[in-house]
Amino acid sequence: MTVSTESALAVDAVAGLWQNPPTLPTKWLYDERGSRLFDEITRVPEYYPTRRETEILAARSGDIASVTDAAMMVELGSGTSTKTRMLLSAFAEHALAAGHRFTYVPVDVSTEILESSSATLALDYPGIDVTPVVADFTGPDLSLPQTGGPRIAVFLGGTIGNFDDDQRAVFLRRLAGALSPGDYFLLGADLIKDTGRLVAAYNDKAGVTADFNRNMIEVLRTGLAADGLYADDFDHIARWNPARHRIEMWLRARRDIDVWFGALQRDWKLAAGTEIRTEISTKFDLGVLGAELAAAGLDVVTTWTDDAGDFSLTLSRR
Ligand SMILES: C[S@@+](CC[C@H](N)C(=O)[O-])C[C@H]1O[C@@H](n2cnc3c(N)ncnc32)[C@H](O)[C@@H]1O
Repeated sequence: MTVSTESALAVDAVAGLWQNPPTLPTKWLYDERGSRLFDEITRVPEYYPTRRETEILAARSGDIASVTDAAMMVELGSGTSTKTRMLLSAFAEHALAAGHRFTYVPVDVSTEILESSSATLALDYPGIDVTPVVADFTGPDLSLPQTGGPRIAVFLGGTIGNFDDDQRAVFLRRLAGALSPGDYFLLGADLIKDTGRLVAAYNDKAGVTADFNRNMIEVLRTGLAADGLYADDFDHIARWNPARHRIEMWLRARRDIDVWFGALQRDWKLAAGTEIRTEISTKFDLGVLGAELAAAGLDVVTTWTDDAGDFSLTLSRR
């Protein structure tokens, strides 16, 4: 971890760990190990969102490139950019035919994954300028790089669900404010469905999501010089919150925990059974999502779902 990452973690830990319930922003799940575990999650049988979104992108990337005619794509929370390759191929082909360059700007907090995937993409797509940016998309400066033609901001993987309702409204407004009139926004959002399937997607039998969740304890231990904090002392919990139509991931203390955070010079006590909230993943109704985009100043152009109606991709225009 860099010094600035460590101090950002310290600020979030002080703000969240002594709350009732204790909580930490989801981004802290994504250090290098967490990002690799998330990549593994996308391949477990229970985790349908990646396969469904891939199905939509495979069918629609060509349409998205020709409708938007974008010269630049900025992807927020790009991770390994695996699914994005379908968009990149379509935009590369479109730009070649139209005789202009295309720039891809992947944005993520996970530095190592961003750097390694960007280096591979630059080799695989010689016709595209790949210019990665390490940044927090919840930070105060959500400015997007400028270019000659229209831009498309892309937010895939259902990551929008990690915001609560208020945070999401703020994020959409700030994103719309960073776009210019005529720019586009492509949003991947998971849809409300059978609770059993939803819970299983966040509690796979192989235990990959459990390892991913518990990795946050490792991030705290190493990032804040913690004594007495061990990932094995926590159970992974995934449950559906029907009132807020969201999956919530928690870590429940298996025993009384007494931690000394060297970096904070502060003690943290948790009674056995206490739960820390590590992630929310809101699931959407398409009508409500369209209204939220409109309220932020983004007009829906088209919404697609996969054949099973599990996941959605919405193209909107500022
Ligand atoms: C659910 S994963 C999705 C990854 C990829 N877009 C996909 O669809 O498979 C969320 C991604 O967003 C990144 N991320 C989470 N919070 C972030 C933040 N506040 N700022 C920037 N990136 C963030 C994570 O590192 C991770 O790569």
